[in-house]
Amino acid sequence: MDNDSIRSEVNEMQLPVRSRTTDPANTKGSSPSVDRLSDLVCRELIKRATEMLKYSYAPYSGFKVGAALMAGNKKIYTGCNIENAAFGPSNCAERTAFFKAVSEGEREFDAIAIVGGKDGKITDYCPPCGVCRQVMAEFCDPDAFFIILAKSEDEYWIYSLRDLFPMGFTPDKL
Ligand code: THU
Repeated sequence: MDNDSIRSEVNEMQLPVRSRTTDPANTKGSSPSVDRLSDLVCRELIKRATEMLKYSYAPYSGFKVGAALMAGNKKIYTGCNIENAAFGPSNCAERTAFFKAVSEGEREFDAIAIVGGKDGKITDYCPPCGVCRQVMAEFCDPDAFFIILAKSEDEYWIYSLRDLFPMGFTPDKL
């Protein structure tokens, strides 16, 4: 799917107003709140996130993660995790995608898909770490930004940022 097709799909797309909060570990299948058009976009984001596993640099943990972030203008920014021998400087896939986007001038975001697993094999959902949730909260409306956790294009769950990061410390607190 090219960028123009994605744009035309998402122009019509209604993201779910409320996401499901069911624990993905105990459930299977797509959220019933996802309509056909947003399902296409979710699938595209999952596909792009999965493609990023090949670029993951994870020699220390062996845990590879890929992310695909859709900006408000429907442009997609991808990311992978990038580890470091000093451990601390390691960066998660989600933050790689966010920092790429913000450094290109983006400030508004719709959704992010995340996939990951040991040796790049996806066997379970890969929820974002607390630091990545904090970074999301800097730029995203907690009720209008959606986090897609996927095992495949057919098996994923959607959460709002508020679901995964309730009562976060956000810019409006300062
Ligand atoms: N990691 C991510 O990139 N995103 C997540 O959502 C969870 C964890 C990375 C960080 C580290 O390189 C590896 O996965 C193991 O923690």
